[in-house]
Amino acid sequence: MSNPYRHLQTRPIAGALGAEIDGVDLSRELPAEVFEEIRRALHENLVIFFRGQRLTPQQHIDFSARFGELLEVPFVRALDGYPAILPVMKGKAETKRRLFGGLWHSDMSYAQEPPLGSALYGRVIPPYGGDTMWANMYRAYDTLSDRLKQMLDGLNAVHSAVRSYGSGGAVVNNGDPAHKMDVRTDDRAVQEVIHPVVRVHPATGRKALYVNSTYTLRFDGMTQEESEPLLQFLYEHAARPEFTCRFRWSEGALALWDNRCTQHLAMNDYDGFDREMHRTTISGDRPVGVALRV
Ligand code: SIN
Repeated sequence: MSNPYRHLQTRPIAGALGAEIDGVDLSRELPAEVFEEIRRALHENLVIFFRGQRLTPQQHIDFSARFGELLEVPFVRALDGYPAILPVMKGKAETKRRLFGGLWHSDMSYAQEPPLGSALYGRVIPPYGGDTMWANMYRAYDTLSDRLKQMLDGLNAVHSAVRSYGSGGAVVNNGDPAHKMDVRTDDRAVQEVIHPVVRVHPATGRKALYVNSTYTLRFDGMTQEESEPLLQFLYEHAARPEFTCRFRWSEGALALWDNRCTQHLAMNDYDGFDREMHRTTISGDRPVGVALRV
């Protein structure tokens, strides 16, 4: 396979999406042409991985911020002194039923302008388990029947953070010292936003399915009961193994993904071990749907 990049070496990790990139030191200020190749690699592979990095929180921020302004994630206490860094942690004494990020989701799809992407840096990695999976949401859309595509092209869906961050939400712990992460509810958890079910990626022009089982509540204009069967079908369809990749973390690895055309989940299979990651979250645009012919 010939290398399509001048400055990067990429190695796909699965047929559907995901590639490891060699030969880049993210702690340095990368020349513009190298950075533009990284952006291209992200658009072509949807999630890219850089192993063996040694990043301070500020270097992590500096690299991520080249893609856009960084968001402060609501509900979760940021890293001290670094409001743009979200610590994603589970301690060895925690036996959580629902892990932060533990169900398929696209980050913060409950926001009016959900993030373009996220960059997750591995600091403490369990000896086994704690992998992250991603799914290719272009492929999820492309493999539907034409009739269903047509129907979904015309639908919107309601998203909210309520199931995760509402009072009693699945990952809220209200600063309980038994939990390493401090996740609290607030009024924003019950706000609802409406996004197209099929969004057009602003850079590639491709259509991606944009519903997820963590934050999507129902189709706009339908009840939850009416929406549930089709949503369940779409969630199962999007998570078909052949549409996914799975990344085995190592200390110092950084994963950068595009939230506009992927969803992801963190595996909760390492009780008895610590896992600590730092995430930056890159601001994005309001999702744009498919222009329907009348
Ligand atoms: C996330 O959903 O941002 C966290 C993913 C992970 O911990 O692997």
